[in-house]
Formats: sequence, structure tokens, C-alpha cells
Amino acid sequence: MDSTESTMLAAIAWLNGRLLPLSEAVVSIDDRGFQFADGVYEVLRVYHGQPFAFREHFARLVHSARAILLELPLTEADLKDICLGLIDRNGQQEAEIYLQLTRGVAPRSLQIPTSATPSLLVAIKPPRLVASALRQDGVSMITVNDDRWAHCDIKATALLANVLALARANQVGAYEPLFVRDGFVTEGASSNFFLVCGGSLVTAVADWRILPGITRHFVVQLAQELGIPLEQRNIPHQELAEAEEAFLTSTFREVLPVTRIDSRPVGDGRPGSRTRALQDAFQQLLP
Ligand code: PDD
Repeated sequence: MDSTESTMLAAIAWLNGRLLPLSEAVVSIDDRGFQFADGVYEVLRVYHGQPFAFREHFARLVHSARAILLELPLTEADLKDICLGLIDRNGQQEAEIYLQLTRGVAPRSLQIPTSATPSLLVAIKPPRLVASALRQDGVSMITVNDDRWAHCDIKATALLANVLALARANQVGAYEPLFVRDGFVTEGASSNFFLVCGGSLVTAVADWRILPGITRHFVVQLAQELGIPLEQRNIPHQELAEAEEAFLTSTFREVLPVTRIDSRPVGDGRPGSRTRALQDAFQQLLP
């Protein structure tokens, strides 16, 4: 079996109750997810055959669905059964689960349909792996204006502003954009952001301006356990110049050092000791 074939076998979808190869999982052009990005999503990592932080991801899905006036069509236990079934079928110990819930199929109109059935996709795929050189040496970011909407705490599928910000970062060779809104640093296009300043770990407060990342949540807990002082507050843009260390967090990147921001080195330009300690502590949490 060549690698393409094994990748294809490793990608299956549960779409509205049917199990399908990922390539055959299709939705109607009248699905409101396709028409309006009228939907929410989650990305989970599977380690050693176990979905990591399932409860936290489910809680965030409930928050996102409620925020867009969408009723979740199944219980936490039902959704977990679907995920475990996919992990079992897929047969890979390491995987990524993509879950998307849209308002379903209805004739195109901005008005929320009264009778549409929500459409649910749960897909399992090989995980996106971050090169070990990046984990070891760190990545670069560039600051960009945060021109997203005012509900960034909702994990909505509408990600065009994030797509364009990432394109701008990549154009100048940066790994991830760092959003700045009204003079304050918020988060990355698909990651949360932390810096170490004056010995304290600092991250943006979890309000409407950022997605309350699941990895962020664990890192905050770990910092407390490791006795690293933590501040969740507004981060003025100028504070980046004083940062001793920086890193970003996300489900598939875990804790990833950031060593350059806007072409300037962060601290001495190498991943710092607090970043390393949190990277290691996070690994200990995994199944
Ligand atoms: N993105 N902020 C944004 C805007 C995100 O899209 C993400 C996740 C995060 C980190 O959240 P978590 O730790 O729960 O993964 C922060 C996922 C991974 C994605 O869109 O692929």
C-alpha cells in the first residue's frame, strides 16, 4: 500500500448518519454552510486512539452553536460514540477529527429557516504534524490588523479574514499572523498567543476578541501548577518589543515557540525556558 492509498483509507466521514470515504462526503449547494458559512466547527486531536479533551471541545461546540441560535442535534455521549466509532474504523492511533455543524439545507435566504435540519459532519484524517525543527527552533509571526468580526469567541466556519491574514504572513515568509485590534495583541489566525514579560506569562483575556482555545486552557492550568506567574489581560502592541519569550498554542501545534515577530528576535531569538517547560508539561498531559 503506498502512502496515498493509506492516507485515503485513513480519511473517513460520518455525514448526517452515514459513514463514507471522505472523498464521497458531499453536501447540497443549498446547505447554508456552503452559502453563508452559517455553521460552527471543532478540531480535535486523537493521541494513541483517544480523542484529547473531548469534554472541553464539546462544551465549546455547545457555546458556538447557542451563539448562532442553532440547536445541537445530539448529546455529548452520542457525539463521543460517533468519534470513537470513526477512530476504530480508521485504525490509526494518531489522527485529527474535524467536526462541522451547519444550519442545513434551505432555499437561499438570509432568514433563518424554521424547518431546516442541521447538517453534521464528523471526519477523521491523518493529523497535521508540525515539523520537529519548528518545535525545536520556533516560528516567526507578523502583526496584522485584526479586521475580524466582534464574535471571535464563536468557532464559526466563516474564516475569510483569517485566510487573508495568513496569506499576508506567508507572503513575507512568516508562519502565522498575529492579530492586533485597537492597539492590543489578540491571537493568531488559528492559534492563541502567549508571551513572557517581566517573568510573567501573559495572554489576552478570553473575551469576544479571541477564541477560548482548548490548548490555551490547559497551558493556563499548567502555568499555575508550575508556579509561573500568569496574567490574562490586554497586551499593548508595544509590549511585544519587551517580550523575553513568546509561543502560540493550538490543537495540532500544541505549544510552539515564537522566536521572531515582525522580523525582530523575541528575547535572545531562541525558545525560552518557560516555553520549554510548558511544551514538556503539555506533552505529559497527552494520552
Ligand atoms: N484552530 N484561535 C483561533 C482563531 C483558532 O482557529 C484556533 C484553533 C485557536 C486554538 O484553539 P485550540 O487550542 O482549541 O485548537 C485559537 C483550529 C486548530 C483550526 O482551525 O484548525
